[in-house]
Parts: sequence; structure tokens; C-alpha cells
Amino acid sequence: MPDVIDLRSDTVTRPVPGMLEAMTSAELGDDVLGDDPSVNALEAAAAAAVGKEAALFVPSGTMANLVSLLTHCGRGDEAIVGSESHILHYEGVGAPALGGVSLRSVPNDAGGHIDPDAVRATIRSGVPRTTVVCLENTQNRCGGAAIPAQEMREVAEVAHAAGAAVHVDGARIFNAAAALETDAATLLGPADTVSFCFSKGLGAPVGSVLTGPRDFIDRARPIRRQVGGGMRQSGVLAAAARYALDHHVERMSEDHANARRLANGLAELPGIDLDPSTVGTNMVFFEPQGIDGAALQAALRERGVLSTGRPDRIRMVTHLDVTTAQIDEALTIAGEVIAELAGG
Ligand SMILES: Cc1ncc(COP(=O)(O)O)c(C=O)c1O
Repeated sequence: MPDVIDLRSDTVTRPVPGMLEAMTSAELGDDVLGDDPSVNALEAAAAAAVGKEAALFVPSGTMANLVSLLTHCGRGDEAIVGSESHILHYEGVGAPALGGVSLRSVPNDAGGHIDPDAVRATIRSGVPRTTVVCLENTQNRCGGAAIPAQEMREVAEVAHAAGAAVHVDGARIFNAAAALETDAATLLGPADTVSFCFSKGLGAPVGSVLTGPRDFIDRARPIRRQVGGGMRQSGVLAAAARYALDHHVERMSEDHANARRLANGLAELPGIDLDPSTVGTNMVFFEPQGIDGAALQAALRERGVLSTGRPDRIRMVTHLDVTTAQIDEALTIAGEVIAELAGG
């Protein structure tokens, strides 16, 4: 097996030595009892990083969104989500199944954008009642698009005017902030609650966080316990997350530059349909034309270049563990593989 260039997701990164050291030297307690100092410090730092009052450390982005929806919504309440949102497509209808919450979708266009008028037309104040509108930033299924502050503000105004809260699934919010050349707290000003992940572009092995007003987080904490998210000496994980927050936010733009380099290179290859101008953050999507996508993915895998997505819409993601030299190597391999497939 050749050296692997793992472009499946930014979730595949391994802890760097400094992070491992922070984990082994972390001061620990019992977080369910509220006295793990590393978790408490992480929660304070995470809340500050996105301009919110308080935070709750959870094992995954899915749990952060689930706990948020279960806190925002009672049984029979409705949450509005984007038609291409991760909550709708990949989170196992957790809030409907566990909390009697209904999910109602408004369209995301190809660039991930949501029309505030569509939200206005969809929000309901009777029975059921919309209690939360969810936005996603970056918008994973729409090319990893960064959604600008103005658009978040316009949707939030509509939600707030109708008495609904705004939750942002910000799994990759620091990618969005870097792409938009702003800081996460400014971008998230209009949001009431925000989840984000340490285990994606930030490079920690595990962990996400739900942030928001202190009284909201106080209500969310027992709900995390109900869904099995109470952890004990989780300071080991919090220390990794804290290291990620302290050391890996500033380098997001390196991943974006690598993604642009990958996109520009792929777009030059025959049999690949890709508009590099659609690549705004760390995700590259492309469509094979005249070559079999499944065969292309298999041949790339054989040569050590891993991707995900559908055969007709392949996805490659850049991250901490992929160097610029490896991007160039992946491009060379892709060129060779495509020539072989075309010749065969
Ligand atoms: C936008 C978005 N939200 C939430 C999640 C869920 O995160 P996790 O895999 O940690 O549950 C993901 C995972 O890829 C995601 O891309």
C-alpha cells in the first residue's frame, strides 16, 4: 500500500505531539459532578471564541445539535432546517425520534443560501409552533460554502420577529470565519446558540460544543445527560480540544489554499467537471465526465488517494494532515489514473 493521502474528510486527523502532551498532562476531575477543571476551562474558552455566554462539551457534533434542538423545542414543536443541512440528512432524525420535534425544511440553493422570505413563509406560530430556525455554516453538502454574515443576519431577523430562536450548526465555523475574513464571534452575532466541532478542521480526535446564553446551557446540561452524553474524566479530551482552539484556528486558511490548489489542478484534467470558483473553504467536489466515477475512486484508492462522496459527485477535503506537497502528489496520481482509465 502506498502512503495514504486521506482526503475523505477533515475528521481523519491524528493528534499532533503537542496535543498528545496536553492530553497526558491535563488536570482531571469528574465532569458529571461538574469538577473537571480542564472541561470547565474549555467550555469557558469555547464560549468566548464564538462570543457566547456559556458552553457545554459533548462527544460529537450530532449530539451538540440534538441537545440544542431538544432544549429549544418541546414535544410537538417545529424546527426549521435547510433542505441540504447535515441535521436533516445525516443526524438520524434524532430530535423527531427522541423529542417529538418535527423538522420542516426550507430550500438551500446550490451555494447553500437560504432565502429569508422562504423562512418567513414557513415559520408557524400556532400549532405546531416553530421555536427554532437552524442554519449551517459552512454548508457541508453545498460545497462547504461559507455563508456570509449579512445572510445569517437577515434570516435571524425573520426568525426573531416571529419569536423563534436561531441555532447555527457551525461544525466548521472557523473555516467559515477564515474564508469570510472575519472572526467567528462577529459572524455568529445574530445566532442564539451555536454548535461547533473540535474534531474536524481544528484537528482534535473527539469533541464538539454547544454554546449559548447561560440559562440555555443550564437547561441543556441535564438533556446531555439524558441522551448519554455525560462524561467523566473528559478533561483528557477537553485538553485536546483546548489545544486545537489555541493552536489550529489561525491555520485554517492553509487548508483553504490547499483546497484551491487541488481544485485548480483537478479542473485542468480531462474528464473532470469542476468550477474552482465554487471552492471557498476546505472542500472540493467534482463530477467525472465520460469516466466511471466509481472506477476513478477505486483506482485513486489503489494508489493511496482516498475520497468520499457519490461516484457522480466526488468529494475531497483538505485538513491539518495533508501537506501542499501531498496535494501535488494527489494531482499527479489523479492525472495518471485518468489517463489509464481513458486508455483502458
Ligand atoms: C455540518 C455538520 N454538522 C454536524 C456534523 C456532525 O458531527 P459528528 O460527526 O461529530 O457527529 C457534521 C459531520 O460531518 C457536519 O459536517
